[in-house]
Amino acid sequence: MTSRNSTTPGSAVVTGGARGIGRGIAERLVARGYAVVVTDVDGPGAERTAAEIGAVAGLVHDVRDPGAHAAAAAEAARHGVLTAWFNNAGVGDDGRLSELSEEAVRRLVEVNLLGTLWGMRAAIDGFGDRGGDIVNTASLAGLGPVPGYSVYAASKAAIVSATMSVDAETPRRVRVHAVCPDGVQTAMLDGQDPGGLGNALVHSGGPILTVDTVAEAAVDLIGSRRVVRSVPGWRGGVVRVGAIAPGVAKLGTAVFAAQGRRAISRRSGS
Ligand SMILES: NC(=O)c1ccc[n+]([C@@H]2O[C@H](COP(=O)([O-])OP(=O)(O)OC[C@H]3O[C@@H](n4cnc5c(N)ncnc54)[C@H](O)[C@@H]3O)[C@@H](O)[C@H]2O)c1
Repeated sequence: MTSRNSTTPGSAVVTGGARGIGRGIAERLVARGYAVVVTDVDGPGAERTAAEIGAVAGLVHDVRDPGAHAAAAAEAARHGVLTAWFNNAGVGDDGRLSELSEEAVRRLVEVNLLGTLWGMRAAIDGFGDRGGDIVNTASLAGLGPVPGYSVYAASKAAIVSATMSVDAETPRRVRVHAVCPDGVQTAMLDGQDPGGLGNALVHSGGPILTVDTVAEAAVDLIGSRRVVRSVPGWRGGVVRVGAIAPGVAKLGTAVFAAQGRRAISRRSGS
């Protein structure tokens, strides 16, 4: 076990790091010299990814468990001064509120929102007097109305809200950021109902993003004073307009959904 000195970036925790955007973030942090602890509810997946990318540890970690965050922070501290924490784990159940099971609604709130709140607390505690950066993976869905993703969007809006408040209530040495990506090509997107309203809207706005683009944007927030970052930036503006005038956004839903369905057809060549 190597101990890092103060000339290195220190250690970092990435939740939901076994695959997808979290894995991309962890890879970049390793490349930047961090001692990275990859955590995931999929413990073997976290261990495998950690070994493949050169992270210092892969841990089983359900973000719904506050105590498990403390264990992740303690593991990171064994490898270096904790300076960065990525609350990235999330679930993406799509569907209208009336269609989702009670279990799915609970999971969305508990994993996405509570998991991020517990993670921020553990990070602030773990940073101690030195401070550091917390980057929460929210979503463009958190910036405005997203029919077909109402509970997911609510959980992400709450993350954006908590990010802004916690950044403002912590000392200057603690920087809290939210990255808000549009649709990204990962297992989460692949798991959406292909004919669902949410899936149509995700495909209505331009090319689906790559993990590389989003992971780079997230890691680049380290050290910056930027609190909320949309990827791509222009889409953040469009979704925020929907939040200012949700009645108008409702009228546009059918138009955007039709646009998304055409884009899905073009992609599948049908
Ligand atoms: N893919 C997209 O289109 C998209 C867009 C915007 C935001 N996001 C957000 O990006 C983050 C990463 O998603 P992804 O697209 O890489 O999806 P993904 O499904 O590939 O990865 C999510 C990871 O989180 C883990 N996870 C799920 N529940 C967990 C729990 N209770 N505790 C710990 N880990 C848990 C999963 O095992 C998985 O490894 C999520 O927060 C997601 O909401 C994704």
